[in-house]
Amino acid sequence: MDSSEIAARLETVEAEARSAVEAAQTVAAVAQLRTRYLGRSGVLRGFTGMIAGLASGEEKAAAGQSINSAKMRLEETLCAREAELGRAAIEGDAGAARPRAGFDFSLPGTRPRVGRRHPVYATMEAICETFGRMGFGVEVGPEIETGFNNFEALNIPMEHPSRDAFDTFYLQGGLLLRSHTSPVQIRVMTRQKPPVRIVVPGKVFRPDAPDASHSPMFHQVEGLMVDEGVSFADLKGVLTVFARDFYGPNVRMRFRPSYFPFTEPSAEVDITCLLCNKTGQVHVPGCPVCKYSGWVEILGAGMVHPRVLEGVGYDAEKYTGFAFGMGVERVAMLKYEIDDIRLFTENNMAFLEQF
Ligand code: DAH
Repeated sequence: MDSSEIAARLETVEAEARSAVEAAQTVAAVAQLRTRYLGRSGVLRGFTGMIAGLASGEEKAAAGQSINSAKMRLEETLCAREAELGRAAIEGDAGAARPRAGFDFSLPGTRPRVGRRHPVYATMEAICETFGRMGFGVEVGPEIETGFNNFEALNIPMEHPSRDAFDTFYLQGGLLLRSHTSPVQIRVMTRQKPPVRIVVPGKVFRPDAPDASHSPMFHQVEGLMVDEGVSFADLKGVLTVFARDFYGPNVRMRFRPSYFPFTEPSAEVDITCLLCNKTGQVHVPGCPVCKYSGWVEILGAGMVHPRVLEGVGYDAEKYTGFAFGMGVERVAMLKYEIDDIRLFTENNMAFLEQF
């Protein structure tokens, strides 16, 4: 007897075992086959006994190896058949109260983990929905933009100091990551005549070092309405409806004169700080969110600059419009009293599961 003869015999036994396993119809029958082939006094144990009679160390090693791998293959086959029969028993039992062999009905079930929307996306959706009820449609644009749409078409010339405020990451070939959602105004107006009434949710990018209130990537919702006779009063009305809808009836809003190249006049809009000024009356000094002022900025806005309208081929004598851009993280942080913007991107389940 040598190792190759052992291997040949093993092959026969293995084939026979395999077909027996395939033919088994219950988990218990598979267990019996396991004992018969792999058990203490099983068939394969008999092969191990033959090793001692082999001539050389090499022969012994070779035989040992083929016995071991046959054992492993057989164990795999047994397990697979067991799983198959177990599954079939469960499926066959679906709806039936009678337990079957191979499935323990007293085991606790596995609770599926239910996902949920990320707070930033839920907020973005809620914002769009509020404006949707006021007749605004939703548009989106690409995160990779041309310098023209991100700057020039919005009346931000190359040498203008305000360009710094909208600085971004530059790609090859004159492209860049958009630093605000405002370029989507240009895209939509270029392909569509007035009236325009849209909101634009999306990601924007700025080369800012991350800290509690800055992130190199964040989200904005842009708004744009252009038609005959649109006025600053319409802007105030629409934003007031938004603020009350989103933050509740007690929130107050204020417009501060500001500057954006693509609007004239321009304003920054604050709401009463929801952390320390909930009633709209009192302001608790020392609040970290509003820095002692009782007010927090949530967006920039204004009347679309005539140069922007003319640039897209609109008649600026006939049409006027307002636009605004709000920071989604900022809006969500105020609503849910979140004090660090980095929490949104850390995949911390304890944080995310609260929303
Ligand atoms: N794009 C501005 C920013 O990212 C926000 C903004 C201000 C958008 C005024 C507008 C606007 O549409 O009219 O800071």
